[in-house]
Amino acid sequence: MFYPQEVIDQVIDANNIVDVIGSYVKLQKKGSTYFGLCPFHNEKTPSFSVTDNGAKQMYYCFGCHKGGSVLTFIMKYENASYLEALKMLADRAGIALPKPDISREESARAKRREAILEVNREAAKYFYHLLKSERGERAYKYLKDRGLTDETITGFGLGYSDKYRDDLYRYMKSKNFSDDVLKASGLFSIKETDTHDYFWNRVMFPIMDVRSKVVAFGGRVMGDGEPKYLNSPETECFNKRKTLYGLHVAKRHKGKELILCEGYMDVISLHQAGFTNAVASLGTALTDGHAGILRRYTQNVIISYDSDTAGQDAALRAIPKLRDAGISVKVADLSPHKDPDELIKAEGTEGYKERLKNAMNSVLFEIHCMVPAYDLTDPDESTRFFNEVAKRLSYFTDGMEQDNYVRAVSKEFGIDYTLLKEKTKKLALSNDNIPKYEPVRPLPLKKDVNSKALLTCQKMLLSYLAQDPSLYDKVSQVIDEHDFTLPPCDGIAVMLFEQLRRRKLDPVSIISSFEEPEMQEEAAAVLDLRTDNEIEADEREKLINECVIRIKTNSIDKQMESEQDLSRMVELKRAAEKIQKIDIFGRSI
Ligand code: GTP
Ligand code: MN
Repeated sequence: MFYPQEVIDQVIDANNIVDVIGSYVKLQKKGSTYFGLCPFHNEKTPSFSVTDNGAKQMYYCFGCHKGGSVLTFIMKYENASYLEALKMLADRAGIALPKPDISREESARAKRREAILEVNREAAKYFYHLLKSERGERAYKYLKDRGLTDETITGFGLGYSDKYRDDLYRYMKSKNFSDDVLKASGLFSIKETDTHDYFWNRVMFPIMDVRSKVVAFGGRVMGDGEPKYLNSPETECFNKRKTLYGLHVAKRHKGKELILCEGYMDVISLHQAGFTNAVASLGTALTDGHAGILRRYTQNVIISYDSDTAGQDAALRAIPKLRDAGISVKVADLSPHKDPDELIKAEGTEGYKERLKNAMNSVLFEIHCMVPAYDLTDPDESTRFFNEVAKRLSYFTDGMEQDNYVRAVSKEFGIDYTLLKEKTKKLALSNDNIPKYEPVRPLPLKKDVNSKALLTCQKMLLSYLAQDPSLYDKVSQVIDEHDFTLPPCDGIAVMLFEQLRRRKLDPVSIISSFEEPEMQEEAAAVLDLRTDNEIEADEREKLINECVIRIKTNSIDKQMESEQDLSRMVELKRAAEKIQKIDIFGRSI
């Protein structure tokens, strides 16, 4: 809900700051400045100043060092939101505020995304048509030879891109799509001298977002050839780091877990075999973005990567990302088969079910993977192994679960149970993710707010605010910049909140305010302006609200740690309890 800057300026200009503040605070003129008793802190001699010198319309208190514009004054004094304050001042000056309108830029972007989606939809239909036509005979046979049924082919909308290098382009031109939109879809290389398709002579896998809209394609060569798979480049509709193949179907799965695999064919084979809860990242390693999206749909993920060392390494990299997102992870062992697709072919549905049942807890999996790196016959290395094992085990937040694993591990590796238990407990207490006072004052939600998950929340909320400033009014009812505790979020928050308050969003100035290029990059990643097109509004609200709760809970905890005054502590405790039930979107729960 953005008002154009002219409107805001008009309202501010129409309200002389001395007149407005003078109606709340008794002011006396000294020279060109007015002074009075500060309404925001207790004082006996006036240190609260108001200036209306030309363009400089502001107040500042020399006592409490707070200051701002006429708008900030009203917000503070009347405890009003930005919009409420603006409305009060507009009313005072007799100005009618226009109906809030999403910015032109935003609606232009939305239109463009729609146009790209339309290109993708048309292309997917065309590829499917080719597959079923004579021209696609070889591709169709390829898919059938790989064991796919017609139902599966149709369900995933598989297709074929013809062997002529501009076949799709000519088809799209016949449908009157403009070069501009075709270019933006990433499906073509359009140059004055040469125009051609991105995919040709490949089996095509449309990539759907959670709303089942085609956002990109993967294409596989039939038989051998390089590259084996080709994926659409990123576009305004397609962010690889946030897209999971198969999620549009898997999200409807009623079970408690999702299966994470490496490839398109794995997902398709698994779905065909009845495991419709399988998803895959798309030829990239799993990212925090993927983990965050998975967390929206499940708390349990079973990794089902390839059984080779590359697959194992990829699992080891994915585990901490998933764990930080608050997901509990298991790893399925598929050996001696290469991947889920091949396992299903060899052992069928029952065989794969068995692998899922025997999937190993990720902590145990990590410990197993560590073993080859240590020579356990050497006492020094043995000690290092012991310490590393204890550290891993200390990550379990549930005492009972931890004890079970300590027992299992000590048995398997012949480590003394009592020693391992002691060491694990000691490390668990010193983990920075478990605040020291946890056993005394446990708060709901606290358990899984470790510092990385918190960092993810803080980043996510800032990113949502930067993408959609209209959220500010809701978010700012609960959160302000000081609630962001972790760098670089703390610094970004101060600037972003200031800009949002002034309704002058300028992410570039925030990014460039960091001196080191690394920090600039980090800030840019946080303020990433690509809109998250795959989330439904309702899920997005849920996610934002959860971030708000976690960030505020942490911030209150921090205050509580340093608070000495008992009554203030009780107040904070109440606030913390209230926060757990808050819903900034006012939805009924
Ligand atoms: P099939 O050979 O068709 O069974 O595929 P696979 O899933 O067994 O292949 P693999 O394990 O080699 O690759 C897993 C995933 O990585 C694929 O589904 C692709 O998303 C991606 N991938 C594989 N090869 C390439 C490549 O050459 N380029 C890109 N960009 N991605 C690839
Ligand atoms: Mn395969």
